[in-house]
Amino acid sequence: MTQPSEVSVFNQQSPAHNEFRSDTFTTPTVSMANAILHTSLGDAVYNEDDSTIKLENKVAKIAGKEAGLYCVSGTLSNQIAIRTNLLQPPYSVICDARSHIYVHEAGGIATLSQLMATTIEPKNGRYLTLEVDILPKFVPDDGEIHGAPTKLISLENTLHGMIFPLDEIKKISAFCKANDVRLHLDGARLWNASVETGIPIDEYCKYFDSVSLCLSKTLGAPIGSILVSDRKFINKANHFKKQNGGGIRQSGLLAEMAIVAIDENWGKLKKTHERAQELGKLCDDHGIALSHPVDSNFVFLDLVKNKMDVNYLAEQSKKHGIKLSGNRIAFHYQVSEESFEAVKKVVLESFNYSKTHPCETSKSVHFYSVNDKVEEK
Ligand SMILES: Cc1ncc(COP(=O)(O)O)c(C=O)c1O
Repeated sequence: MTQPSEVSVFNQQSPAHNEFRSDTFTTPTVSMANAILHTSLGDAVYNEDDSTIKLENKVAKIAGKEAGLYCVSGTLSNQIAIRTNLLQPPYSVICDARSHIYVHEAGGIATLSQLMATTIEPKNGRYLTLEVDILPKFVPDDGEIHGAPTKLISLENTLHGMIFPLDEIKKISAFCKANDVRLHLDGARLWNASVETGIPIDEYCKYFDSVSLCLSKTLGAPIGSILVSDRKFINKANHFKKQNGGGIRQSGLLAEMAIVAIDENWGKLKKTHERAQELGKLCDDHGIALSHPVDSNFVFLDLVKNKMDVNYLAEQSKKHGIKLSGNRIAFHYQVSEESFEAVKKVVLESFNYSKTHPCETSKSVHFYSVNDKVEEK
């Protein structure tokens, strides 16, 4: 009988080796495939699957929270967390105008939580601050009947690869506690923030009522996110998970793969940051403007300032055998040395081209669209 360790697809170089569109393109490894053999086969919807429980407890422990809930995606864990944090509309959430829950979750907060969004572009260009950004927009629940009281603040760490400073989180958290406002964290890449700052995940998480931690991006598990909070919250969130069709029966197979992803890949994230920072420095040295500082695994080129043509960038990527979309360059642990060298060439060549062929109509678009066709080389 063929063992997973012999299955050729897992022994070949990851198809993500030349992939810079997102760290979500990471692919499962041979040790993840092998881990499936050790799964339990209980029904997780009935909370009878040991492997799933093991994963939920493992991440809850890392986060210093009472309980965890394995969800099929980060979108699901964010959305049910938001719904669980809230009771009865009218109410509103304060979040960064660039946040995933607002921009990239298909309007879910409006339909699933009947929530009004107060979006803010942080004045410092990086992260929301209590005094400058949040307080002027805060709507108290004081009996005034024209507004939608702020019942939730949602932060994202990292956001576009930028790390949210812990001191500011502490201030926002204290304000929330004093004003009966719940605090959620989209911690899809909190793994990266923790690796970069050395601040443990549980130290970050203790300031939040709920945190969503993704497994399928930077860590490379095939599926899923874990929502962590206290037991009562998780029980309620599980109700919304089921309502949204998020129940997975034998999720143990996936849970075992996710456990391997945490154990084997978390330690590899630092190198992905170093590579991104190396590219960031290269850009700096050549006068190539970036839209954001490179705190972790993303580099954002400022195409407008550089007058760089996004189509030329795409053409160069194809020529050098890498996959790139828009101005965002995402690093993950499966990027090969060869592709790393190629992406540097692509950026430099495109920038040099912009000097003789400045593009006056460039836009800084980064999101990968499922309608984008990326040709294989
Ligand atoms: C910051 C952030 N939060 C949440 C998500 C949603 O995760 P999923 O694609 O698993 O729904 C993503 C996806 O890329 C993300 O980048």
